[in-house]
Amino acid sequence: MTSYGGRESSRRSTSRYELIVADTPTLPFPAANKLDFRLRELASDAELQTTARHMAKTRAVPPVIGDDRHMTELHQQTLVELAQLAPASGPAGLDGLREVPVHLVPEIRLHLADDALVLWARMEAEVGTTLAAPFWASAWLGGQALARFVLDHPETVVGRRVLDLAAGSGLVAIAASLAGAASVTANDIDPYANAAIELNARANAVQITVTGHNMLDGDDTDGADVVLAGDIFYSGPMAQAFLPFLERASARGVAVLVGDPGRVDLPGGRMRIVATYPAANAGALADAEIEQVHVLRLT
Ligand SMILES: C[S@@+](CC[C@H](N)C(=O)[O-])C[C@H]1O[C@@H](n2cnc3c(N)ncnc32)[C@H](O)[C@@H]1O
Repeated sequence: MTSYGGRESSRRSTSRYELIVADTPTLPFPAANKLDFRLRELASDAELQTTARHMAKTRAVPPVIGDDRHMTELHQQTLVELAQLAPASGPAGLDGLREVPVHLVPEIRLHLADDALVLWARMEAEVGTTLAAPFWASAWLGGQALARFVLDHPETVVGRRVLDLAAGSGLVAIAASLAGAASVTANDIDPYANAAIELNARANAVQITVTGHNMLDGDDTDGADVVLAGDIFYSGPMAQAFLPFLERASARGVAVLVGDPGRVDLPGGRMRIVATYPAANAGALADAEIEQVHVLRLT
């Protein structure tokens, strides 16, 4: 019997992704197409990990701004859909979500994908169209470090109004709320992320205001004294879109902290490292070789 991450392969055989793929011989959706029938043929853990790494590297970076991120009709009741992807007990399968403690922040539990690429393939296969990558289904290294920092340094946020920008799963927003922020807004342009943030806020018994509009062209930080942004510098377009907004906020006296594991587009010269955490085995497969992750303050 083979295993994946210590879990027995029998779980794979019950995956709804497999059923979808089996019933749909030609798939016009990129993630499903790339995965193809490969998952069913996988003979060992090593092969699965190689496939996932390869896919993470070869997939085009999804568009950022002016992106037509949409929620599909099938997923309109997104919260309900997400909750269904996360069974209350038992295995979720590689294409599902599970409520799990976060590696660097075990006091927070999130609904995360066992394998975000497979979840993505399943969601596209279900709705028959392309979808933005489910970034909300992973706890990115930058977000984990920022959440750890906020919990260990509550003075950063206590009694203050906090904006978690590009919130994804809402991890950083949840940490800010647990650390004693006066109010927390989580913003992300992906409607699936907005639903995931609500689900995750509920799981951690915190109150967060969730917004989905693109804030980057304006100066409105929703009245925040502190802006937190986890892992936003993963592409050139992302850096170009986010940095001016963060710099304008900083110039107005807003404290700006980012979490980043040294991505190539991090504008490191504009920032000062305030904390460093070990990243080994903490992030997604594609980040497996990263050893450290930083929290940086915009200067
Ligand atoms: C790599 S994920 C990081 C998520 C989270 N901060 C974390 O660390 O786990 C980047 C997120 O940025 C979001 N994003 C992209 N463009 C955005 C924009 N213009 N405004 C807000 N969020 C955006 C994506 O939807 C995605 O959830």
